[in-house]
Amino acid sequence: MQQLSGGIRLEKKSIGLVPTMGFLHEGHLSLIEKAKSRCDFVVVSVFVNPTQFAPNEDFDKYPRDLERDKDLLIRKNVDALFLPSENEIYGDNFQTYVEVSGISGILEGKFRPSHFKGVATIVSILLNCVKPDAAFFGQKDAQQTAIIKKMVSDLKLDLSIEICPIVREKDGLAMSSRNSYLSADERNDALVLYKALSSAERMIEEGERKSKNIITEMVNIIGEVKSSALDYIDIVETTAFELSDQLEAGKEYYILIACKIGSTRLIDNIKVKVTR
Ligand code: PAF
Repeated sequence: MQQLSGGIRLEKKSIGLVPTMGFLHEGHLSLIEKAKSRCDFVVVSVFVNPTQFAPNEDFDKYPRDLERDKDLLIRKNVDALFLPSENEIYGDNFQTYVEVSGISGILEGKFRPSHFKGVATIVSILLNCVKPDAAFFGQKDAQQTAIIKKMVSDLKLDLSIEICPIVREKDGLAMSSRNSYLSADERNDALVLYKALSSAERMIEEGERKSKNIITEMVNIIGEVKSSALDYIDIVETTAFELSDQLEAGKEYYILIACKIGSTRLIDNIKVKVTR
């Protein structure tokens, strides 16, 4: 991969990387389209990264369908698929990890304490292998994007990080490889996440500025669905990614939710600009 990228760079072509764990859906395809519109040569990596899963999580059952992924990438005219083996990435007595300390401790980090260390480490490795000018990530994993941006800025890495909007099904469910775990009934119950987020957006539009009131309303909406078990709802300012009790005019916020539907843990968020 490094040799291939070296050659592309010698040709003065820009390289875009779309890192994925495979089982591609419309969300990934939108990242690929954005990368193709910005860069001359687009690489998609597929690697289900073991270090971002805790021992009790779904690494073994994480959905995989490489043949389907390859077909989609060919149809999208992607220039290269980077498909490293686990041994190529973590073999050879691997001992080095990357940790972004502050932002990793809240929200997802509270429920998945080792997750972001695994993400920051694999993203660093992928960046060093592919050497892209730009890397493309989805807003669905908003905290992940904030952590990667911080890592890139702190370590003075020479590339731009592009965040692309969440892609939703027609009924509002955010696209995710993990949606494939949901039964038909659970799929329907999962719509409550977007319902709660939309209600928060409405409240803010109507003038509510206290996070506590917005979160209480969202908790009530989620509570109406029996199969749900809420991990958190939080509101953070988008650039610093710090929890905000009171929303201020002129600032932009993520409202973020993590909730189990049955045994499937889903995350979702919306970005809201407070105008007055
Ligand atoms: O968002 C994902 O799919 C993964 O966390 C990533 C960025 C590919 C790292 O494994």
